Amino acid sequence: MRSFRFLLAGVGLALSLGTAAASEGPEIPHQHWSHDGFFGTFDRAALQRGYQVYKEVCSACHSMKQMRFRNLEGIGLDEAQIKAVAAEFETTDGPNDDGEMFQRPSRPSDRFRMPFANDNAARAVNGGALPPDLSLIAKNRKGGENYVVALLTGYADPPEGVTVPEGMHYNKVFPGHMIAMNQPIQDDAVTYADGTKATVDQMAHDVATFLAYAASPHLEARNALGVKVMLFLFVLAGLLYAAKRKIWKGLH
Ligand code: HEC
Repeated sequence: MRSFRFLLAGVGLALSLGTAAASEGPEIPHQHWSHDGFFGTFDRAALQRGYQVYKEVCSACHSMKQMRFRNLEGIGLDEAQIKAVAAEFETTDGPNDDGEMFQRPSRPSDRFRMPFANDNAARAVNGGALPPDLSLIAKNRKGGENYVVALLTGYADPPEGVTVPEGMHYNKVFPGHMIAMNQPIQDDAVTYADGTKATVDQMAHDVATFLAYAASPHLEARNALGVKVMLFLFVLAGLLYAAKRKIWKGLH
């Protein structure tokens, strides 16, 4: 009995610690995602729009070191489309027979282009702040893709009495509220090929979907495997139950 009460107290403590940790910092609203949950799959159209936002806006400052052009297969592009997308960029290759490095059109196996030669160059043009690599950002930040949406839509005038230092911007969800990144998307920052209206909310949701895919490219395969395992366990349970009934029948 005592140990049971002890256990209950432990569970209670863990729960309250959990809520305390969760209530730290500003609230990050949970968005609706097609890739949420056990049967979740990525919204291909949103992924493609999100890649467009990354390519046309975010990639000016943020690298995605883990991404190769062939990974765009996962957003629904076919081989020819991936080749064409890759060829829009140049990759340094070499050395050639003269010992020189040279530029050539990128291939599907090449990595995404880096916006800056190195971190110091990135800091130099961003007022000393380093734009983080976005490959795993949807995993590295509490709230994941919900945080990305909240951040991109969280720019606001500072509350009265709060002064924003030169080169900084007020953001409701960024820790400490002062962020070196200026609001990167305004309405119609991109023109979507599928005719979707490019509002800030829409672009934020789309690019966050793309970043979620980049951080968890195997999510759909994992979910599919999970469903198969559940089906298998279901069938197995049925068989075991039938076997048990059969074995015990003779004993009554
Ligand atoms: C002009 C350069 C620039 C562009 C364009 C830009 N960013 Fe940033 N971003 C930055 C900088 C600089 C920081 C670091 C801010 C800091 O630490 O104060 C940053 C930080 C971030 C962070 C991390 C915030 C955190 O919690 O640490 C995310 C996520 C992010 N940007 C997403 C994006 C997305 C998505 C886009 C495209 C829609 C984008 N950024 C476009 C410069 C840029």
